[in-house]
Amino acid sequence: MKQNMKMTSLAAAAFMASSTAFSAGEVEVLHWWTSGGEAASVNYLKDKLDGAGVSWSDFAVAGGGGENAMTVLKSRAISGNPPTAAQIKGPSIQEWGDLGFLADINGVAKDNNWDGLLPSVVSDVMKHNGNYVAAPVNVHRVNWLWSNPEVFRKSGATIPTTWDDFMVQAKKIQDAGYIALAHGGQDWQDATVFEAVVLGIGGPEYYQKAFVETDMDALNSDTTTAVFETFGKLRQFIDSNSPGRDWNVATSMVINGEAAMQIMGDWAKGEFKVAGKSVGTDYTCTAAPDTSGSFTFNVDSFAFFSQSDLGNQQAQKVMAKEILGSDFQEVFNLNKGSIPARLGMSRDKFDSCAHDSMDAFIASSQTGGLVPSFAHGMAVSSAVSGAIYDVATNFFNSDQSAAEGASQLVSAVKAAK
Ligand code: BGC
Repeated sequence: MKQNMKMTSLAAAAFMASSTAFSAGEVEVLHWWTSGGEAASVNYLKDKLDGAGVSWSDFAVAGGGGENAMTVLKSRAISGNPPTAAQIKGPSIQEWGDLGFLADINGVAKDNNWDGLLPSVVSDVMKHNGNYVAAPVNVHRVNWLWSNPEVFRKSGATIPTTWDDFMVQAKKIQDAGYIALAHGGQDWQDATVFEAVVLGIGGPEYYQKAFVETDMDALNSDTTTAVFETFGKLRQFIDSNSPGRDWNVATSMVINGEAAMQIMGDWAKGEFKVAGKSVGTDYTCTAAPDTSGSFTFNVDSFAFFSQSDLGNQQAQKVMAKEILGSDFQEVFNLNKGSIPARLGMSRDKFDSCAHDSMDAFIASSQTGGLVPSFAHGMAVSSAVSGAIYDVATNFFNSDQSAAEGASQLVSAVKAAK
């Protein structure tokens, strides 16, 4: 009996040793992908890692746009216990890199030719001091208008391509008894709509100067007042239940025909897909008014935090490698609504919205119309983007005049720079 027990525990120990040898460690991954389309996307990453022997510890913090997730990440990092990888984007990657938190994954990037696989507008953002510290999963286009064609038909309205026409069509929709613009009253959603207005009314050159370079002359101009004028006119087209509403709930209002339109990045397409809807018949995607030649880009990426455990370091490398794999880039982006970050991928399985996005990405990069999204953390420091959020949301939720909005923006950006 004693002998048996001894053998059993030896066998168990041997089994454990061999299973440890097979496991490539664990990744604890912080993200904010909790809607239907987002969950389907992130689950594919989890499956891929599982197949590669890496176990996944999910660290999801709900809240569109990621503000809540970033707050939680800061407190974990400050207490000396950051996750293995976190969904961090744009200039924030540099901020975390400057603080010394990030791990260098140059080895994986070199072995897999990331410099050759990624457009420089993407790879530049993934590097800190010339070393890769993050891996990109996609490219989202933010300046989209999602519409329900049946609501348009029933209202005798047509999908607007200019902001002037938007006001005319939205009025017809409202008069027919529908909500013209599905919107969630959260600061990042206000900023997303504001960004579309900035791009449409000001054009990409003004956008770049005022909202990327934070040039005070560009900000302090009549164009900024004109932007706030148009932005203010949108207040009348949203419903009184919008405060606090999540973005995917707003998308569902377009899906179920309660509302005609939503201005949102193409993660909204993930929700149409989960609801079993088809592009062209059940919904349409067109560029936000007056922005058809432009593209506000938003690249989701995972930054890797320095780890002392060798197994976890290895797991990070596996995760980085899987993310740039062509199968992952295809399936993830089919679910997420975005387009692959990796160049040279087949377009066959993607729908017409994704094709439009791919074409617009290339065309706008040649005309100067390709600009980083300030509403999604791609353009300016977190301090400046926070200032823009505050001004946009205060304006949209008050009866401030366009001149007041513009002057508050100038002061807030100046103070935050
Ligand atoms: C992210 C998307 C996400 C969206 C809504 C954006 O900032 O880039 O991946 O789906 O927020 O949560």
